[in-house]
Parts: sequence; C-alpha cells; structure tokens
Amino acid sequence: MSIHQEIKKITTHVLQEMKRQKQKIAMLTAYDYSMAKIIDNTGIDVILVGDSASNVMAGFDSTLPITLDQMIYHAASVVRGVNRALVVVDLPFGTYQSNSKLALSSAIRIMKETGASAVKLEGGDEIKDSIKRILTAGIPVMGHLGLTPQSIHKFGTYVVRAREEEEAAKLISDAHILEEMGCFAIVLEKVPASLATQVANEVKIPIIGIGAGNVDGQVLVLHDMLGITQEFSPRFLRRYADLDNIINDAVVSYISDVKSGDFPDEKEQY
Ligand code: KIV
Repeated sequence: MSIHQEIKKITTHVLQEMKRQKQKIAMLTAYDYSMAKIIDNTGIDVILVGDSASNVMAGFDSTLPITLDQMIYHAASVVRGVNRALVVVDLPFGTYQSNSKLALSSAIRIMKETGASAVKLEGGDEIKDSIKRILTAGIPVMGHLGLTPQSIHKFGTYVVRAREEEEAAKLISDAHILEEMGCFAIVLEKVPASLATQVANEVKIPIIGIGAGNVDGQVLVLHDMLGITQEFSPRFLRRYADLDNIINDAVVSYISDVKSGDFPDEKEQY
C-alpha cells in the first residue's frame, strides 16, 4: 500500500515523504464547502484555495482584485468540508509584497480564521523576507514560481515563462532559495518541461506542476478540469468532465418540467 493510501490526514511531511518514495502528488483547487467535501472524499492529496477564485468564482479577468477577507471566506468554507487533504491558501495580491510584517499578519489571519494548514505566495528572492517571517512564526509556506498570475501586468501575457536562459537561471536559483528557507513545496506554472524536471531533480521538496511537464505532482483549477469554464483552453489542460453541458441539460429539463406542470408530481408534494 502506498503512503498516500495509508495516511488519514495529509501533512507537509507526508508530501515530502511521497516525493522521497517517488509517489506523485495530486492537487486541485476548491473554493466552497460542497465541492471541497466531494473532492476530499476522492482521496485528493492537497486542496488549494487559489486566488483563481477571483476568476472562476467572482468573474474577474485576473487574480488581482480578490481581497484577504474574500480569500478567508472561501478558505473557511473549504476547511469545513475537508477531513483528509492538506488545505493550502493563496495569500492574495497586495497582502505580502510590500513588507514582511504585513505578510505575517495576513498569513496569521488565514491560519486563525480558516483552520487551513499552509499558505502559498508567488515569487522568489524578491519576497524572501516575507516568506522567512511567515516560516519563523511556524506557518508552512508553499512557493509559486514561473508564471505567477499576480504579476500579469509586469509580464503582459500568460505565455510560457523562463524560455530564455536568464529567466530560467533565476527560476532555478529561486527554487533553491525557497527550499533553503524551508518552504515545503513549490508550484511551478507554465514553464518548459525540461526546466521543471531539472528543478525537481535539484531540490528535495516536491515540485507541483501546472503546464510544467511530468514533475512530482500536478495541480489544476477544479472548474477548468471539470469543464465548467469553457473559454479557457491552454494546451496543459486535460478536461475530465463536461459539466457545462451537463448543468445546461439539467436546467433546461427543469425549466421544461416547471413550465409544462410536470414538476412537481404527486409524489413530490405534501
Ligand atoms: O490560484 C490558483 O488556482 C493557483 C494554481 C493555478 C496553482 O495558484
């Protein structure tokens, strides 16, 4: 039996042991109680309360607008639905970049008010004071390198990052910095697979990829892999369901039954 199957509660140490034993880590996002409960029951290892909530829950075109209070609302809802998975919460844009004191107080609010087990921050060397301070307070930190959506206005586009040597070298160096500081894992988003594999081979902590090839684990946005969002179709996305059509068909049938008087029938009333 694999360590993943034996374990009743996933911790950051379990993830590191999974990497050591070459067992892949499966991570998905969730933003609410009901979805979190369903996916926790499947045996998923990590649930990320991503700031992608800004896109898929709130309808914004970037992750920048979501606030700390809104992330806390989503995360507390998710935690109430989860027994086994490790719950990680994104620190939203503007709550950790300006100074390490603010970063710590944002992370403490997340831990105290949601019951989650860890936070995720985007960036490497440039935010190391914030990461260090959060880690010193005993809060586990997941890093996020490569395409970091909170910096979309700096990048200007969501294309693959670190194709050039200079950016690839900085990414490798940042991954080592995050590991040395004590981050328990790193998300690597939309970078060449060969670079991601090199990073995964060089560091002992798990590298969780999204559009980064076959590394120590994978993460996808739940609404994308379930086919709820139809407009987003990057090459790395595998859709496992077509919920957009399933929901559409169910609602169309419901409308038809209501309009025809077929619903409710005699057994569906008191
Ligand atoms: O916010 C998010 O969903 C993320 C994943 C894409 C890794 O950060």
